[in-house]
Amino acid sequence: MQTTLTNSAEKAAAILNSGGVVAFPTETVYGLGAGICHPQAIKQIFQAKGRPGDNPLIVHIYSVEQLADVADEINSDAQKLIELFFPGPLTLVLKKNRCVPDTVTAGLQTVGIRCPVNPIAREFLRLSHCPVAAPSANLSGLPSATSWEAVYEDLDGKIDCVLCGTPSAIGLESTIVDCFGPNPLLLRAGAITLEQLQAIVPAITTPAATDKGAPPKSPGLKYPHYAPKAAIILCHAHEKMIIGEAPSAYIGLSAPPQGIALIKICESLEEYGRELFSFFRRCDTEGIHVIYCELPSYQGLGRAIRDRLTRAANKENNAL
Ligand code: TXA
Ligand code: MG
Repeated sequence: MQTTLTNSAEKAAAILNSGGVVAFPTETVYGLGAGICHPQAIKQIFQAKGRPGDNPLIVHIYSVEQLADVADEINSDAQKLIELFFPGPLTLVLKKNRCVPDTVTAGLQTVGIRCPVNPIAREFLRLSHCPVAAPSANLSGLPSATSWEAVYEDLDGKIDCVLCGTPSAIGLESTIVDCFGPNPLLLRAGAITLEQLQAIVPAITTPAATDKGAPPKSPGLKYPHYAPKAAIILCHAHEKMIIGEAPSAYIGLSAPPQGIALIKICESLEEYGRELFSFFRRCDTEGIHVIYCELPSYQGLGRAIRDRLTRAANKENNAL
């Protein structure tokens, strides 16, 4: 299959509307989209990514008015979060409307819904004839793609089109909050922080450690994620480490240990989040064997960065 590269949202939306699969930029990471009214294209998303069929897709809408097309019950907690954080890097899990096919939600009665704020994403979604189901636009298990070049590297020849925009401003996937269950739950940390969410809905909690062994609250949590080919070693600021002979890299906020070949020191958590996945990909291209990553604290965006780092480091333990 020939993959068209374009920076025209109009052209990309025309390909989507005729049943194609189109990668598009958002402020979090690039998404791999298909109209929810095109069952064959939805199937192709799973094939192109190598994604297990029991891992549901997030549905992207252009405006809050479109919510009624995809969700059935919107409780007062969800309402407050929508008012404050839509459009933006937040996904809400709500009761699905019957218009959303089971292939999108992997048979769940809920659906994850997001309204991105990136202007190219909004233009693309505005021109789409139906809501757009989209996971991150990377091969399953690899770091998410935060540039069109990264999408192209993973998916050239497997999808119809890449709508090329600028690199993702946030670089980490959206915060996911489950507003369907009895208590609102943070399913995935992201740029909308737990502190920001709890300021609006104090009852929001993270899944308890006692839930370990229970089926994951979000199906995607049981699959390996974000992992480059290089091994990840987590470290604390200024920790003394013995660096081996193999080519190694470091990313973090503080000065690295001695003897590292490729170094990325970030000036803020925002920069750390924005650069993390592209740094992982660069390390693989440059033949790095080990990446030392500084673990930030749980505060603010630190929680989301820690989550991605620990899951990337535990790739073997997370195996299917
Ligand atoms: O920022 C983002 O969220 C990006 C952009 C493209 O919007 N999308 C993204 O999608 O990260 P994906 O598929 O890579 O991650 C979505 C996660 C998966 O772990 C999936 O299992 C979970 O959301 N999910 C989707 N629908 C769900 C539902 N109804 N209930 C619980 N978890 C759900
Ligand atoms: Mg993903």
